[in-house]
Amino acid sequence: MTRWSDRIGMFLVAGTVGLVMATGCGEDGMTGTNGDAENVPPAFASAASCGGCHPEQLAEWETSRHAYSSADPVMHRLAEIAGAEIKEVCKECHAPAQQRMERLLAIGKGDPSVDLSKDGTNCDVCHSISDIPPVATAAFIGHIDPTGPKYANMPQVIETSAHASERREWYGTSIACASCHQFDLADGTNLENTFIEWEATNLAGMGFQCQSCHMPLYDGRAAEGGPWREGLHRHRMVGVDYAYEEFRGINLEQQKEDVRQLLENSVSVTTSVPTSVTAGSTLTFDITVLNDKTGHSIPSGVSFAREMWISVRVTDGGDAVVYESGQLASNDDLIHDADLTTFSAQMYDAAGAPTGFAWLAASIDEAGLLKYLESRTATYEFSAPDQSGQLTMELALRFRSLAPGGLRDLGLDRILPIEVFDMWTETVQVTVL
Ligand code: HEC
Ligand code: HEC
Ligand code: HEC
Ligand code: HEC
Ligand code: HEC
Repeated sequence: MTRWSDRIGMFLVAGTVGLVMATGCGEDGMTGTNGDAENVPPAFASAASCGGCHPEQLAEWETSRHAYSSADPVMHRLAEIAGAEIKEVCKECHAPAQQRMERLLAIGKGDPSVDLSKDGTNCDVCHSISDIPPVATAAFIGHIDPTGPKYANMPQVIETSAHASERREWYGTSIACASCHQFDLADGTNLENTFIEWEATNLAGMGFQCQSCHMPLYDGRAAEGGPWREGLHRHRMVGVDYAYEEFRGINLEQQKEDVRQLLENSVSVTTSVPTSVTAGSTLTFDITVLNDKTGHSIPSGVSFAREMWISVRVTDGGDAVVYESGQLASNDDLIHDADLTTFSAQMYDAAGAPTGFAWLAASIDEAGLLKYLESRTATYEFSAPDQSGQLTMELALRFRSLAPGGLRDLGLDRILPIEVFDMWTETVQVTVL
């Protein structure tokens, strides 16, 4: 608990001091105080208000987890369990716009008619960051001034009456993501590590930033009435999650299809299944998974919550199952058979006991994750049938954003079932001689 409580103090100090620097108010004697309630910085504009001139970005952002982050029922349930104080920390990244508005309303400022509860991490949060934010733990907060210019990385931006614009080249780099996509505990322990995992690859040297994979390029207009431009950036920011409940009228099937495509292009898999086997002998084969396409570990981020596993199912000519591993029980839980190969992380609390709650975590074991350019081989072995015939082997690498058992424990049955995505599949016939 204390690790998180310490951090709340850090946020408030950083928030006020940073804004004072950004607006120059410090010279007027308006020095930052430690979270003084009267000193709440100005509200963020709603995404809808930017969307009037930036309709394409608005439509794409609405389908992203950045919009959904404050509506996410799993986040809400966990924050409720963690308690009011820690919930404020969750909101720094998941609901920054809403949180700022709530603080303003609490001191009689802010416009109660502006509803930012479905705005998660919105346009103004990402585009009002004046100078390079430090890496990790919502450190962007201190660098945001929504009353200042809008920043991104376009050359020769045309003028608009809506806002000033200024170019910041670091918007084209992973630093633009690093405050939220790197989460460290107050003692410096790295917990959610997408940024440092990416940093440890050589991809930066080859020009691969987060944006290269998560903000694909297109040609069009950055704003209504603006010039035609090449190399604009998509804002859908596809990952492994989709909206678990109806949200902003988005097309859920399209969202799942986006996730499917990303996951189908995340690894390479090779197998060593023989074409034939002698009846009654032992059939041995390997499945090797190589992370050659994902610029960080798989899973990443809340890696401790993800389920990724190898599924093997072998049947004879009929329906009889000869061997299986990595199957789902009738309640959809993953069966932890003796041969199961999973790719996941485990958090431990201060007493060294496993925990699923990030705010209780003191350490994390990430040996199960698949780092960039790392490969892992699972070896399977079973007895072939005693008679000659044909075996059908259905092999797959599967991914599920959240485990149903955990969601049932949280009382979130209503968002089940959670979609299982195939990262790779192969069906092989083996002749039993
Ligand atoms: C009245 C129309 C209008 C509104 C409203 C508007 N913008 Fe813009 N914005 C523009 C135009 C025009 C450009 C320049 C487009 C170009 O040069 O291609 C622009 C450019 C930008 C850029 C690029 C800046 C750069 O330096 O690369 C960002 C980021 C941006 N707007 C964000 C926002 C955000 C966030 C909001 C809501 C708070 C918003 N805009 C509201 C018209 C608008
Ligand atoms: C999670 C952060 C994030 C959110 C939320 C976000 N953007 Fe962006 N946006 C970026 C980044 C980063 C870039 C620059 C990408 C680059 O240059 O590689 C960018 C680029 C832009 C540009 C410049 C044109 C381009 O495609 O490079 C405009 C305009 C823009 N965003 C508007 C918006 C609007 C409007 C919204 C809300 C509907 C929004 N953005 C939401 C991160 C964000
Ligand atoms: C070379 C392409 C590539 C680069 C570079 C890259 N990603 Fe990813 N990202 C992927 C793929 C593929 C997946 C799906 C596999 C997975 O979950 O890791 C993914 C998944 C994710 C996820 C969901 C992870 C999970 O398992 O819950 C997040 C969050 C994410 N990326 C953020 C980032 C950020 C932030 C950066 C930069 C620091 C970045 N990505 C750089 C390709 C990339
Ligand atoms: C202000 C904080 C913030 C910034 C800055 C930010 N993100 Fe995120 N991002 C989040 C949050 C919070 C979520 C998770 C929301 C949820 O699922 O509840 C998220 C989710 C994502 C996901 C989807 C992960 C999944 O599991 O589906 C991707 C991909 C992603 N971000 C990429 C980026 C990239 C790329 C950048 C930089 C250009 C960036 N983000 C900048 C806060 C941020
Ligand atoms: C430093 C920023 C930050 C803070 C603080 C933070 N998160 Fe997140 N959270 C993220 C990002 C970024 C992701 C996306 C990572 C991924 O997809 O793997 C995420 C993902 C999640 C997810 C997975 C989304 C899903 O539904 O699958 C849950 C749940 C979540 N956070 C809950 C919380 C809770 C509860 C708290 C407070 C106890 C919290 N977060 C605090 C940045 C943050």
